[in-house]
Formats: sequence, C-alpha cells, structure tokens
Amino acid sequence: MTLILGLETSCDETAAAVVRDGRLVLSSVVASQNELHERYRGVVPEIASRAHLERITPVVEETVRAAGVGWNDIEAVAVGNRPGLIGSLLVGVSAGKALAWALGRPIVGVDHVQAHLHAAALGESSPQPEFPALGLVISGGHTSLYEVASPTSMHAIGRTIDDAVGEAYDKAAVILGVPYPGGPNLDRLAQAGDASRHKLPRSLLDDESLDFSFSGLKTALLYKVRGIPRGRGREAVFERSIGDLSPADRADMAAAFQTTAVETLITKMVRALEQMSRAGRPARCVIIGGGVCANSLLRRRAGELGASRGLPVLLPAMGYCVDNAAMIAGLAYHHLRAGRVDDLHLPAVATTSLR
Ligand code: KG4
Ligand code: ZN
Repeated sequence: MTLILGLETSCDETAAAVVRDGRLVLSSVVASQNELHERYRGVVPEIASRAHLERITPVVEETVRAAGVGWNDIEAVAVGNRPGLIGSLLVGVSAGKALAWALGRPIVGVDHVQAHLHAAALGESSPQPEFPALGLVISGGHTSLYEVASPTSMHAIGRTIDDAVGEAYDKAAVILGVPYPGGPNLDRLAQAGDASRHKLPRSLLDDESLDFSFSGLKTALLYKVRGIPRGRGREAVFERSIGDLSPADRADMAAAFQTTAVETLITKMVRALEQMSRAGRPARCVIIGGGVCANSLLRRRAGELGASRGLPVLLPAMGYCVDNAAMIAGLAYHHLRAGRVDDLHLPAVATTSLR
C-alpha cells in the first residue's frame, strides 16, 4: 500500500490530496480563488501566488486530517511543478520540498497536463485505461491530442494553434455577458438555448490536421452578438451592445458556440482515432481530461462517440475535471513505481514537458 500526498498550485486553485496506490482518493481539498479574480474577469498572477502562500499550509493540514492518516504513513510527496504560472508553481514546489525534507520522504515532480489524463482513472471502481490510448486534454491553458503509451509516456499529435478551448469559453462568456467563472456559466446558459438558430464557423484546418483553432470562433461570436464593427481594435464601433439582445437570443448564441466548440473536439478525436488505426496502432480507449470535461454537452457527445465506435471513453468524475491534487498524487504513484523520483533541486517550470 502506497500513500502519496499531492500538491497542486499551478494556477488559481490551492489543492492537496492523499491518494492510495494511484487510485483511491482518501482526501482531496481544493481551495478555489474564484472570488479573488472575479472582478478582473481572469486570473491575476500576483494575486494567485499570494493566495497560494496564505492557503497552502491549512489546505495540506486539512487534507492529511481528512484522510485519517498520520504524517509518517505518507511515502512520497508529489507536486505539480509544470506547466503553469511561475509564481504560483513556486509556492507548491517550495511547500512540497519542505514537506519531503521534513518527513524524510522523496519528492516527485509531476507534469500538470499529464496528470489531467490520469484524473479519469481515479476512484477504486473507475474503469482503468488500456494502451495505446488516444488522450485529449481540454483546459484553460491546453487543448491537445496525445497518443498515450502508458500513464507516464505520451506524445502530442495535435495542439491548438491559438486559444485553448477553455480560454475560448472564458472569452465567449465575456462577449455574452456571462458572469465569471465563464466556462460553467456559459454551459448552463447554452443548455437553455437552441443551437440551430445561429451558425458559427467550425475551424478544422486542413482535412488531415489534428490541430485546433478557436480564435475564429470567438471572433465570429463577437460579430454575431454585437454586429460587424466599423474601425478596428480599440477604435471599433459596434452596431449594438449585449444589452440589446433578449435573454432567449443570448441563450441561442451560447448554444451555437457550445455546439460548434464541442463538435470540433469530437471531429478531431474521430480523425485521430482513424489515423492511429491506419498507422497500425489502434487506440484501445479514449482518455479525456481537463476543466472542459465538466461540460455537459462534451460529456454527452463523448459518451456517444464511444458507443458508436465500441470504444471505452474515460472521463474524470466531476470533482476531478478542474484542477485538483488527487490527479497529481495519483500519477506520481506510476512515476514512483518506475523509480523516477526527484530531489530538492526540483525546479518550477512554466512550460509542459510533453512534446
Ligand atoms: O483544468 P482547469 O481547471 O485549468 C487549467 O489547467 O487550465 O480548466 C479550467 C478551464 C476554464 O477555462 C473553465 O472555463 C473551463 O475549464 N471549464 C468549462 C466548464 N467548467 C470549467 N468549460 C466549459 N464548460 C464547463 N462546464
Ligand atoms: Zn489544469
């Protein structure tokens, strides 16, 4: 039995978790900073790192208490050390090193993007992935497809060339006047709308491309909501403002955005599955991770994709879609088993290790 304490501070969630044998979550505490960033409609890095500093110690103490284990039962300390906001990452990495040193246990640095692909495997009764798998990470910072050989080995086969899909959701929410946090609130508004009333462009790039582009969709939504502007940039004058739309219009536009974004993700997954089959490495399952996995339409359409292709599609439980430390501690178990541990020189790095 291996108990790992995980820490996650890469963006605006201060999180800690205790996970047994890579799967069983004994406790998972997430202190969200939404209320601190709400008035800026986005994460302010300096505010985020200061809040992590204030919260990390109580969050870790609460996690260990809630797990019902003693400090000496913990066999390793895992920390998401990349990618993310550097000032935020540094708080988790420093706290992880201090804990590892004080407990006399190894520290394991974990790539946050890779950890999102472990989130679906958490929980004692969750189906476990079989490899090779097709992986899709859809978050506020990343939108990438991976050919996954094992929990700790994967390479990117497609990526966004501009905005991440979560970022597009957050910007679309601002355009539609939806309150922060944009993703979940836009999802709720879209569920009340009729997607067929507006057509928005689906950017698939060329016929074989596994890359994504969401900036055109965002601009098309802006023009749909406010009309074609006269002038450009800060000088632009729009035909109307968001207040001129009826609640039903806003919901219909939100639904059109949601359908277009999600269908793009589904189309690219189908393409990737076909390309893996043609290359003689057919995927044995699909693993999806990241905050946008909480999206109602994505969850439904991903389930339908799996059913139509006879392929398991693994999605995280709702609590493990957005940033959390259980996925960090869970993935660290696989690193530990492979003998991969770090030392007190472990750096915080702003970019992902995945290529
Ligand atoms: O994985 P995550 O917590 O942070 C990153 O690693 O980026 O993902 C956060 C992203 C945000 O952009 C948020 O708007 C989006 O996930 N998100 C959603 C939903 N819930 C969170 N997007 C669409 N629908 C949702 N229900
Ligand atoms: Zn994340």
